[in-house]
Amino acid sequence: NEIKIFSPATVANVACGFDVLGFCLDSVGDDMVIRKVERKGIHITHIEGFDLPYNAEENVAGVSALAMYNAIDVDFGFEIEIYKNIKPGSGIGSSAASAVGSVFGMNELIGRPFNKTQLTEFAIKGEALASKCEHADNLAPAMFGGFTLVKSISPLEILEIPSPKDLYATIIHPQIEIKTSEARAILPKEVALSNAITQWANFGSLIHGLHTSDYGLIHRSLQDVIVEPYRSQLIPHYHDVKQAVIEVGALGAGISGSGPSIFSLSKGLETAQKVKEAMSQVYSKTNIDFDIHVTKIN
Ligand code: HSE
Repeated sequence: NEIKIFSPATVANVACGFDVLGFCLDSVGDDMVIRKVERKGIHITHIEGFDLPYNAEENVAGVSALAMYNAIDVDFGFEIEIYKNIKPGSGIGSSAASAVGSVFGMNELIGRPFNKTQLTEFAIKGEALASKCEHADNLAPAMFGGFTLVKSISPLEILEIPSPKDLYATIIHPQIEIKTSEARAILPKEVALSNAITQWANFGSLIHGLHTSDYGLIHRSLQDVIVEPYRSQLIPHYHDVKQAVIEVGALGAGISGSGPSIFSLSKGLETAQKVKEAMSQVYSKTNIDFDIHVTKIN
């Protein structure tokens, strides 16, 4: 009647895939305990790590849990304990991990009546509480693992994209906070056709590179001409980090979700470790604290 789950952090956008592409960071994430209890309703009973609301209706994990709870007819309730490791506002899908974790755990406890896409539909409600709009590019990789492409939100259609077997991610999280809603507000409502052409050529090529394990093509496709020019201004030393990781052999880098985290992709663990060193050198020269993770993408 109780399940302990690990709910992973994720990188959304992946340079050219704004709002649709994401991948899962297998070794970074939150722990959650979900328990079936007699008391009806959704009850958040414990939160550790960060100061978040206990009222289910104001809590991302609670809102997605309530969306699912309202869709089932049961005479029991659920308790949720949240052990949060992913800092809210860090750009690696903190709210998505919470939103996905609660519904995934509940579904396991009641014999899996819902598939992963249906669970993601519930989780979208939680994510919307945090980012003030419905998008699933962090939710989908947290739910499915690996790379995912959100083909459409309504109806929700998620594609699982294969990862080349030697692909590693290095993520630096500078300790500044950027609110997703604010990072969205600074984006233009319209884009130039020439930029759109470059972006969709890169996006299609990135997907092809992932399918065919063509690291050279992945390298040439990891570019964002639409969002990065605006958001990079919010992240100190962003361009220095990008340049430093390319110099040590990374395939490319970009803003993780709405930032401030910066992700980089590499072929092989050795290069991913060099990228970690290069990122750390850039930020060591500043007074901004940071942490860095290296993880394989499965
Ligand atoms: N695609 C979203 C954005 C991810 O970049 O705003 C952040 O939640």
